[in-house]
Amino acid sequence: MKKKPDVVNKFTGDSWAYSKSVRDHFFKPKNILWEKPVDAIFDAEGVVGSPACGDVMRIWINVNPKKDTITDFKWRTFGCASAIASTSMLSVMVTERGGMKIDKALQIRPQDIMKRLGGLPDRKIHCSVLGDKALRAAINDWFKKTKQFSRIVVDGRQIIDPNTKTTEADIEEAVLEGATTLEAVQKRTKVGIGFPECLPKVEELIRFYREKYFGPDLI
Ligand code: FES
Repeated sequence: MKKKPDVVNKFTGDSWAYSKSVRDHFFKPKNILWEKPVDAIFDAEGVVGSPACGDVMRIWINVNPKKDTITDFKWRTFGCASAIASTSMLSVMVTERGGMKIDKALQIRPQDIMKRLGGLPDRKIHCSVLGDKALRAAINDWFKKTKQFSRIVVDGRQIIDPNTKTTEADIEEAVLEGATTLEAVQKRTKVGIGFPECLPKVEELIRFYREKYFGPDLI
């Protein structure tokens, strides 16, 4: 029997069905911080917002400095069902088996979260990136607080096209929003139109983020 969709677009008729795991994590989110946050009981905090939809994610972590592992991961969001389910799953992945090593947590990709969730609709991939980015921000906050400056990972804010002021982060955002070809990215950002020298770099970034978020098989 065909699965009944959870969401139907009334204009296009497109439909989505969330996996059982997404529903479970949405209805019973793990590690969510229900009470008012008391910053003093956490070692570090990360906050990010998604320019794509205006949603916000806040994550708190505790770290075992001797083992360099994340022992606690709490979160809150003003986000959709996919953001809630993916962050809930991310919190489980990071804290299961006594806590993940920080370096390993930094390598978690949105694809890894989606795999554990049994998939997300393409247009919801950016929701899983929110938790991932907030976790990186919290880890960077930990590195700052403990003066481990050489371990801080900076997000790509490098300007790729000085004419349009397009940054690497703009290219990443465009890919996340489904612009996975040079033409589509140029349509959104105008990158390289008056500065074609940057196009090889733009194409390289599109390939990189396309693979990061959609995986090599899906292109
Ligand atoms: S977090 Fe913005 S639509 Fe899901």
